[in-house]
Amino acid sequence: MEIERDPFLAKLGGEAAVAEMDSDAKADALESYLMEQLNQSAAGKTFPTMAELEAQIETRPFRRGVGDQFVSTHGNVKRLPRMPAQPTLADFFKLRFNATANHVLQSANLAQKNGMSEEVILACLLHDTVMALIKADHGWWGAQIYEPYVSEKVAFAIRHHQTLRFYEDPEHGYKYPVLYKQLFGEDFKPEPYIDANYQFVRNHKWYLEARLVTINDLYSFEPGVNPQLEQFSDIIGRHFKQPKEGLGFDGSPVAHMWRSMINPDRPL
Ligand SMILES: [Fe+2]
Ligand SMILES: [Fe+2]
Repeated sequence: MEIERDPFLAKLGGEAAVAEMDSDAKADALESYLMEQLNQSAAGKTFPTMAELEAQIETRPFRRGVGDQFVSTHGNVKRLPRMPAQPTLADFFKLRFNATANHVLQSANLAQKNGMSEEVILACLLHDTVMALIKADHGWWGAQIYEPYVSEKVAFAIRHHQTLRFYEDPEHGYKYPVLYKQLFGEDFKPEPYIDANYQFVRNHKWYLEARLVTINDLYSFEPGVNPQLEQFSDIIGRHFKQPKEGLGFDGSPVAHMWRSMINPDRPL
């Protein structure tokens, strides 16, 4: 998709405002802008087919499901800042979750504005962060890395938001995302395992918790609105069991996943 420079700069608050943004903020802004454009032009827009997307596979040196930390889609990867010896969730947000931080902070901010429960706000805050490690089936991976540290309900909402993104819920105002036509192909139908999972979640007592993550899961970049993690410190304090040894070093069954994000340059 082509973007026109002037409307884009104006949307971000002008050239001076853009000059003050760091490269992550610029990348986030561009991504949000593109998604917005995509939504606006949805009516007249044609989307790739699954076959067209499949034909692109051999045009890239990486696979689309790979985690953000392991590949750069524009030039070489960068050296990562060192993490403290006992890393906290906040350290991961600051030092490793750069690619998704703005999106999940915006989602949690929206959930808070919409008066959601603290558990739903936390689920929104965490829902896509595992994409630093892996993107394919990110709902399941995401729930897994957080399971030892959050309530069952929060893990449920994280796991199943992935599935619910594919299914409309007019009663709660959730529509199939236009972005998904672009990402998965206009003729995409969720695979049988996703379909079966949808039936399970639809009839579960916590359906709404997972559904509310999808409802607040929007790219809603507003210039000048940059929610910070500190806004959610109390919620994290009450609902996230930070291990004293640090994430990655507490001997939990998922510790190695955190360590892989701490040092993705480890050759083995
Ligand atoms: Fe997601
Ligand atoms: Fe999301």
